[in-house]
Amino acid sequence: MSHKPHPVRGRINSWFLAAAEKPMHREYGERKLRIFGELPATIVELGPGSGANFRYYPQGTRVIAVEPNPMMLKRMYAQASRHGVEIDLRHAGAEGMEVESESADLVVSTLVLCSVRDPDQVLSEVRRVLRPGGRFAFLEHVAADPGTRLRKVQEAIHAPWHWLGEGCHLNRDTARTIERAGFADLELERFDGSGNTPYRPHISGYAIR
Ligand SMILES: C[S@@+](CC[C@H](N)C(=O)[O-])C[C@H]1O[C@@H](n2cnc3c(N)ncnc32)[C@H](O)[C@@H]1O
Repeated sequence: MSHKPHPVRGRINSWFLAAAEKPMHREYGERKLRIFGELPATIVELGPGSGANFRYYPQGTRVIAVEPNPMMLKRMYAQASRHGVEIDLRHAGAEGMEVESESADLVVSTLVLCSVRDPDQVLSEVRRVLRPGGRFAFLEHVAADPGTRLRKVQEAIHAPWHWLGEGCHLNRDTARTIERAGFADLELERFDGSGNTPYRPHISGYAIR
């Protein structure tokens, strides 16, 4: 993570993520199922947070959870137990994830690349851990187009947002980061997302190693 979790903001963020789970399911659920594709028995998930994606995984799935924020763990384990998935926790951040090379069929990242310290390094790690032909499924909020009103708002509120959101960037060009990561194949779609929020537009899709 960009920062050591703050005892108060960390708790607020963990609570907020759990509270946002139902609206996120309505907003992103169908799209997530499309990009995840066929679900293997073991899934590497970057920054699962409070476990919003576990509802989409079959019972008995082993989730290698790359989650450096200890404030997320209580809710993550509760959610895992609710949906019958097994957690294999890796404490290090995704920039140096403790996952074996060429071991994963699916790596999932939803709303995480906005918050990591070094997105290029994370993508290089994702390529390292995927088997040839493995899939990286992503759904992220990204910077609005330069010059738009929304982008001006994103730049204006960047500092407090980044502080409150413990390292979240509203203004990252994550599509470009994924495009230049050197995957064999890439399906990427842009979508706005409902509501008048600053964390839009979004991208979703999958990349094949
Ligand atoms: C906005 S939350 C998204 C949580 C979840 N993926 C979801 O869709 O609800 C961002 C998550 O990324 C995690 N995170 C931040 N930096 C990270 C890093 N370097 N490596 C892995 N996870 C990270 C945070 O702890 C948090 O759980």
